[in-house]
Amino acid sequence: MKILGIETSCDETGIAVYDDERGLLAHAVHSQIALHDEYGGVVPELASRDHVRRLPVMIPDVLARAGVNLQELDAVAFTQGPGLAGALMTGASVGASLAMALGIPALGIHHLEGHLLSPLLSADPPQFPFVALLVSGGHTQLMRVSGVGEYALLGETLDDAAGEAFDKTAKLLGLAYPGGPALSALAEQGHSGRFHFPRPKLGAKHDDLDFSFSGLKTAVALACRQAEEEGPLDEQGQLDEQIRRDIAAEFQAAVVEVLTRKSLAALRAEGLSTLVVAGGVGANRALRASLDAAARARGLRVCYPEMELCTDNGAMIAHAGALRLRAMHSTPPAYAFGVRPRWDLAELAPAVIRE
Ligand code: KG4
Ligand code: ZN
Repeated sequence: MKILGIETSCDETGIAVYDDERGLLAHAVHSQIALHDEYGGVVPELASRDHVRRLPVMIPDVLARAGVNLQELDAVAFTQGPGLAGALMTGASVGASLAMALGIPALGIHHLEGHLLSPLLSADPPQFPFVALLVSGGHTQLMRVSGVGEYALLGETLDDAAGEAFDKTAKLLGLAYPGGPALSALAEQGHSGRFHFPRPKLGAKHDDLDFSFSGLKTAVALACRQAEEEGPLDEQGQLDEQIRRDIAAEFQAAVVEVLTRKSLAALRAEGLSTLVVAGGVGANRALRASLDAAARARGLRVCYPEMELCTDNGAMIAHAGALRLRAMHSTPPAYAFGVRPRWDLAELAPAVIRE
């Protein structure tokens, strides 16, 4: 079964062809970072227009690289939500109309389900059930995953998502959008411990699996202000480079510690031994090192998607589409598409996979 996957929920156009027997045949991601750079964040209208420009070029290109022609496709999977409404509409309309023209099913996929199942695309995939730590720009959740579509929410952020905290803190430190990778690079040159930031929602008082990151961002803002007052400043009157590195290192250490300890607590609470990490922040090297060390010490297993499949991509959508298609008893072509900019993962129906 060959599935074309289309991802346009935010600022990446992702296209892929996945074959459920041969695996991922080809994929491409076009990032709009340069387009939104001067605005310091994603401009939704510009994002939609860019998807419209890229889709007709990238789809034939990825099909050609996969060695698959349109008539060989069995279904088209597109991201139906959550995400930016206009951006979602571009992928949904192109995906559904292409499927209609070919007379094959169009599958609307939940973006987070795509992320959640993406470690199954790796060479040594995890087995159900597992605990998933979903850490993206918009979400921070711990879920129990018992099968495709069987997701029980164990805990989530009460305010900012982990990626959002990285992005906002990066902005405070004068780094360009999107700040996560840049902040992490800065942190690698610094030392945690010179500053002391809180570890929100850890400690004896907190036995839940929820997160809160907005206080951490405030702690960074205060540290920056204090450091600006006390100096030293560089020749341009900016914060000294080593201070910025040390603030970044302490911020990253705090986020990593909270994510690691809550993930371990979730595994303990569920009596499970496999953790799957998905979403953009899963690319963070410090987080991976901390989770790996904790897992080694306790005989647990941590699985990540391939590095290039951590952030938004079409491969995870094509792959989730293939699993969904396999679970359907009959697959009547359905072309009435509607996007769902806000969509709770727990609303998804379980899928019964036929071998
Ligand atoms: O999953 P994703 O590509 O998009 C969403 O669905 O949100 O995640 C993007 C988020 C951004 O906040 C970005 O700054 C963050 O993931 N991110 C990172 C790293 N790479 C991406 N955060 C920390 N360290 C990284 N290496
Ligand atoms: Zn995402």
